[in-house]
Amino acid sequence: MNKALALLLLMGVFISCTKEPSQLSVASPSGTNSIDFGLSEDGTPYYLVHHGNETVIDSSSMGFDFQHQKPLKTGLSIVSSTENLVNETWEMPWGEQKEVVNHYNELVVTLEESEAPNRQFNIYFRVYDDGVGFRYEFLPQEGVDSIIIMDENTEFQLTEDYTTWWIPGDWDIYEHLYNTTKVSEIDALSKRNNTDLAASYIPENAVNTPVTMRGENGLHLSFHEANLTDYSGMTLKVDTEFWLLTSELVGSDRSGYKVKRELPFKTPWRSIQIADKASELIESKLIVNLNEPNKLGDISWFEPKKYVGIWWEMHVGKSTWDYAGSQDMNTFTQDLKPTGKHGATTENTKRYIDFAAKNNIKGVLVEGWNTGWEHWIGVEDREGVFDFVTPYPDYDLDELNRYAKEKGVEIIMHHETSAAPRTYEQQLDTAFQLMKKYDMSSVKTGYVGKIIPKGEYHHGQWMVNHYRKVLETAAGYKVAINAHEPIKPTGIRRTYPNAIAREGLRGQEFNAWSADGGNPPEHLPIVAFTRMLAGPIDFTPGVFDIEIPNKEDNRVSTTLAQQLALYVVIYSPVQMACDLPENYENQPAFQFIRDVGVDWDETHVLNGEVGDYVTIARKERKTGNWFVGGITDENAREVSINFDFLDDGVEYEAAIYKDAEGAHYENNPTAISIEEINISKGSALTVQLAEGGGFAISLIKKK
Ligand code: NOJ
Ligand code: CA
Repeated sequence: MNKALALLLLMGVFISCTKEPSQLSVASPSGTNSIDFGLSEDGTPYYLVHHGNETVIDSSSMGFDFQHQKPLKTGLSIVSSTENLVNETWEMPWGEQKEVVNHYNELVVTLEESEAPNRQFNIYFRVYDDGVGFRYEFLPQEGVDSIIIMDENTEFQLTEDYTTWWIPGDWDIYEHLYNTTKVSEIDALSKRNNTDLAASYIPENAVNTPVTMRGENGLHLSFHEANLTDYSGMTLKVDTEFWLLTSELVGSDRSGYKVKRELPFKTPWRSIQIADKASELIESKLIVNLNEPNKLGDISWFEPKKYVGIWWEMHVGKSTWDYAGSQDMNTFTQDLKPTGKHGATTENTKRYIDFAAKNNIKGVLVEGWNTGWEHWIGVEDREGVFDFVTPYPDYDLDELNRYAKEKGVEIIMHHETSAAPRTYEQQLDTAFQLMKKYDMSSVKTGYVGKIIPKGEYHHGQWMVNHYRKVLETAAGYKVAINAHEPIKPTGIRRTYPNAIAREGLRGQEFNAWSADGGNPPEHLPIVAFTRMLAGPIDFTPGVFDIEIPNKEDNRVSTTLAQQLALYVVIYSPVQMACDLPENYENQPAFQFIRDVGVDWDETHVLNGEVGDYVTIARKERKTGNWFVGGITDENAREVSINFDFLDDGVEYEAAIYKDAEGAHYENNPTAISIEEINISKGSALTVQLAEGGGFAISLIKKK
């Protein structure tokens, strides 16, 4: 008897143990979703997923290819199976909601090869009312310490030619625009050669996850993975003719394999969110539920916060990260001559600290404070360029941390690794010790460029382990991580809550400089139903100077009201007000950013369609105040809100920030109207959204 089985027996949850049944089934608690599992004639494992009367995943096989071992695919038989019902509620330390219900039926199947070497492995299926997850467990093999996976071949056989929102299966970056096509029309290779991307590698016609789909009858599916630990990120190879997706793990040219692991081990979960309405995808907690509970214990040392920063001014070209502004990136000169455009000066940082302190904003991010920025990009050998402790001569670390504290503000550390993770790992302890010295509780990290050593990719096992090492080391120093150019979120924040947020999408910054004119208005109405299903996003909303006068060819393609709505629509426990302080001065609309919460008791997705629009209401934890945000794509539309989610018997003072008449993201983006009314449970409201527009409502409890 294997250990897992023994454990289940002990727990008294053992329900059945059958010798070689032909087919096994397990249904979700309410019965809406179910999985069938079986073995084909040649002993190949396959599964099917049903939703109601529909088959959403038709017979799909599972298997692995290895180095030095024959494939694991055929000749298998079922040794045993157990079923296990779990219904528990856990608390998020911060999040979209406080309590999360984790309610599923689990089926564990133990398989064995009938021929030598008679390898055994387990498959765990968990069936929820909002989707399914399954993972493999490789069991001990005699005389074998570790295995090398050359390919995982998990199939997902779709049953129709779904409308699909996808980005290419890029091994280095997620910062692509989403495409909307039928499965049969997915062409990831056409997304190669994107000159806006610092590193990009798209080896085949595969998509990244989460990838979201809608069927003819309105069924929504989103494919992703959960608990990506010591394994490679999964892309999905697309067979456009047969609507078949197959797992394609990110590789490494250095090692020549996909994954190397010691036995025994479990793979990440392969997950499918299943929803009748698009809005349910956002409300689903499947991805965090498939992860393990908090391993860090008390994490009250981090508090969700809004932040401003010396950041957008570099992206729009007002100032620079580097102090010397060396034109010749390859000549390192100790004799740095200031250009006078350096952003991270003591004086400028104090200006941001003052602004934050005045406006109920608790964090100030400072980029370009440390030496090395003369050599961070366009240079082959970037090892050793940054040390994360040496400030430029015009940045007074001691004084600024003292000043920030005095003002009740915290400086957010910045570590741009320039994709040299070995250097970063060597520096980690020194870097975090410096942060501890100043009580800094969070750091934004970055991995711009091609990974050094050559041959590794951002999303392969080697880097997955690097990102985890940073997270674990940081936790030891009570430091929280907001990673840019990260590995995708897979719900790890449940286990390591110090994984507060990450980028991992085309962020606001593209509006400042991308050659293709920035993010189109449909971008965020797609992101809310794709990337956001995976976890918190550091999108950096809040541009008020929408047309970016500094930059002739760049602008933001939303209205001002939509920039406000993003504080509610996009979830993150760190939420930037990214524009320059001077652009917020004397702007009545800035009041919404002062007021809006960052940590929530409840979230309700009031309506939405992928790529078109979405409205979300969230209740702030500390105050019980509610905030509502709605955004639309390039189409104007009318949205009706029924306030039946509000608390009974409470009256709220509502401030409604919406597109004024004649607003339009292209030619009249800042026309905003602000209206104050009283609202209580049962009130109703109709709001007009302009093209590329939105609205934001604060509902402050009346005393
Ligand atoms: C890319 C990040 O996404 C951006 O926010 C940051 O400013 C630059 N790297 C520099 O680190
Ligand atoms: Ca980026």
